Amino acid sequence: MHLSRRGLLYGSAGAAAVSLAGCGAGEESASLTGFTGISMPTDTSERWVIEGKALESNLKGLGYDVIHQNAKDVVEDQIAQIQSMVDEGVEFLVIAAIDNTSLGQVLADAKDKGVTVIAYDRLILETPDVDFYASFDNYQVGVLQATHIIDRLGMRDNPGPFNIELFSGDLGDNNSQYFFMGGLDTLESFIYEGKVLIPSGQTEQEPTATAGWSGDVAQTRMSDLLGEFYDDDETELHAVLSPYDGISRGVVAALVDADYEPGTGGFPVVTGQDAEAASVKAIKDGTGQTETVFKDTRQLAHTVTDMVKAIVDGGDPEVNDLGTYDNGFKFVPSLLLEPVDVTADNYKEVIVDSEYLTEDQIDAGEA
Ligand code: BGC
Repeated sequence: MHLSRRGLLYGSAGAAAVSLAGCGAGEESASLTGFTGISMPTDTSERWVIEGKALESNLKGLGYDVIHQNAKDVVEDQIAQIQSMVDEGVEFLVIAAIDNTSLGQVLADAKDKGVTVIAYDRLILETPDVDFYASFDNYQVGVLQATHIIDRLGMRDNPGPFNIELFSGDLGDNNSQYFFMGGLDTLESFIYEGKVLIPSGQTEQEPTATAGWSGDVAQTRMSDLLGEFYDDDETELHAVLSPYDGISRGVVAALVDADYEPGTGGFPVVTGQDAEAASVKAIKDGTGQTETVFKDTRQLAHTVTDMVKAIVDGGDPEVNDLGTYDNGFKFVPSLLLEPVDVTADNYKEVIVDSEYLTEDQIDAGEA
């Protein structure tokens, strides 16, 4: 793990252009054609499929050749796909890693061949061969989720105590720790005050982790927690800090199995992330999860397209953070976008009016 609990977003610089790309910037750019390999991690979550396609179409729209593959959760396949992109002669790699520490060797080879490597949404760790990182303010995602719980339960004005359980994402994803720490730091003072109790005692990243970001894994863990720590008439669960919509829906399924009734005051507050259609539907209809964090992935795909274009054109990509994302070798120059909190009150404005999802897609629970 490469961050201190509070050492997250405090080294941020203002928007700046950084001339650190592998071979990309400066005089050598004359020969670049923009040939890019896009490697996406999974097709079980909406966002990666949509973004892969958006990136491909943006880059092709600029006249660049593109190889686009999705490794469907298999680390070895992702390595093999990236290796073959390098062998094909890509000049840029845009990678959302399945496992952030598994790419050192293939990226060393890429770097030998002068490829510029952009870590897409998930930072790639333990290699010097990452040039740029484009993502959202991941710590802020956790802050928004925990703040939703605090607001929704009226924790500032109510003595509680409130019983909360914590979920975190896949351990191989660097973002998981940022989401988790943003959430924990925000709840911290309430925990010390004794207003927030965590009956399971599971407050560290490892026991709360959800392998593969899987809803099924989360459902099983939630059921186990309910059976073990809430199986009496007194201990009521008030909220679940969940980092991602797929996990949240698994959590809700376990709660429903345990006879918690969605839409009633007694149903726990459940957070999420990614504004997946099925989750926005639940938020809109009041049938489970009450919040998600929207990250406008269209903007991220544009940002990364702009990074590639800047280098092809002989310039330097814009970044806005030089001191947060330490990958074990260096602080990787980053461009971080802002996440937005979404509830029943603003889903229309944030999700529908921005044309991220239509009301029909939300009602169908499918993008
Ligand atoms: C992304 C989240 C996503 C999660 C699961 C993380 O790396 O930042 O947006 O919910 O992966 O796909």
